[in-house]
Amino acid sequence: MNSGNADKGSALYVAMLSAVAALGGLLFGYDTAVIAGAIGFLRTHFALDAASTGWAASSALLGCLVGAGIAGYTADRIGRKKALLTAAVLYVVSGVWSALPSTIAEFSVARILGGIGIGTASVVCPLYIAEISPAGRRGRLVTFNQLAIVIGILVVYFVNYFIAGLGSDSWNASTGWRWMFGSAAIPATVFFFLTLLIPESPRWLAEHGRHDEARETLVRVGGSVQADAELAAITEALREEPVSFSGLLQPGFRTAFLIAAVMAILQQVTGINVFMYYTPEIFKQVGSGTNTALLETISVGGMNLLFTLVALRLVDRFGRKPLMIIGAAGMTLAHAGLGIAAYNNILGTWVLILVLGFIAFFAMSLGPIVWIIIAEVFPTRIRGRGMAIASLLLWGTNYVVSQTFPMINESPWLVATFGHAFPFMLYGSFCLLTVFFVLAVVPETKGKSLEEIEKLWKR
Ligand code: BGC
Repeated sequence: MNSGNADKGSALYVAMLSAVAALGGLLFGYDTAVIAGAIGFLRTHFALDAASTGWAASSALLGCLVGAGIAGYTADRIGRKKALLTAAVLYVVSGVWSALPSTIAEFSVARILGGIGIGTASVVCPLYIAEISPAGRRGRLVTFNQLAIVIGILVVYFVNYFIAGLGSDSWNASTGWRWMFGSAAIPATVFFFLTLLIPESPRWLAEHGRHDEARETLVRVGGSVQADAELAAITEALREEPVSFSGLLQPGFRTAFLIAAVMAILQQVTGINVFMYYTPEIFKQVGSGTNTALLETISVGGMNLLFTLVALRLVDRFGRKPLMIIGAAGMTLAHAGLGIAAYNNILGTWVLILVLGFIAFFAMSLGPIVWIIIAEVFPTRIRGRGMAIASLLLWGTNYVVSQTFPMINESPWLVATFGHAFPFMLYGSFCLLTVFFVLAVVPETKGKSLEEIEKLWKR
């Protein structure tokens, strides 16, 4: 990719590189949410019980955990670009393979491989975008990554709906689901070839002594004056001593770590991905046919995108804290409503409205803001590690919630006692807890520079 001029650099060039990296985020959304349209058919095809259904839906997330865990190391060893290419290859292989399996074990292996790609991309895509962009535009880019994720989710909901419409329920149970997973190979292949065209991150190049190549990219991004200044700053930063893992728990860093870790876990125990991955099944449970359920799922994806855009507009004006409090309070009420509806067997439109309300409140608050918090609360010297651990906790919790949902939703004892209300009561309690945690512990970081945020923890 070649554009830009030596004196001023090119905003278009940065935008193009960021767009390629953001495609990795889009695939993150696509590959995790593809399960929504397929899980019911997969269940019929392989005659799965509740625990194996949970496993089929969540095995990829175990791969994500591994991918996110090794992504920092991989990106440092082989470079950001090769790490992204590896993720792209894993996406393609997993897409094709998960369309072909004859056993659920084989399917899970294929999904775990793809998960490693997703986990890697979830760390390296924002990292690459942050490293390639000039300081002034860096903050907004984290939110663009979230935007890419929710667009990926919406696109795959459409694809699932389209594929399911090609045949009957029995055709979908034998063949349709295979096309749903296989379809992921197409955007993954595009991602692979586009990634071949982007340059390696200048930070990584400079770290490996390749200053001339690093400067070349920096010039194209920001012009020659800025390139020299940035290269000097990078070299300076590389001289700082790294902080050990236990350093994360030093007094000055402890609160930052606590906030990022707890918010990562809370984002997931709200049950968001129960809706992202199981929505069609929930809608079928309350009386919708397959087609209607998938159409309703598209409206969930649309709402998610719409309110992510709302968050983008509000987060720097309104602040993180008020949005999170309003969001988590709204999510608590939506869960309460869903619990009441499930307990009293109220079916139909009410359920759709409550689910859409829940999604809107999540997308305008915890969805993007938790990722912003994870990216901005850590002091520079521990940011990489801190972000990696917080992402690991987020994926780990996502795995636990997605694996256990069918089990608690179908547990005879829980159903006999609470109807189908128990999962909503459980997730709703965590939403309420989030309101209190944000109120009591999380400081407002709107408009503060990263250095000012660092000072908050020193008090
Ligand atoms: C979460 C994902 C979720 C997505 C939904 C993200 O912030 O981390 O787990 O699937 O939002 O939009």
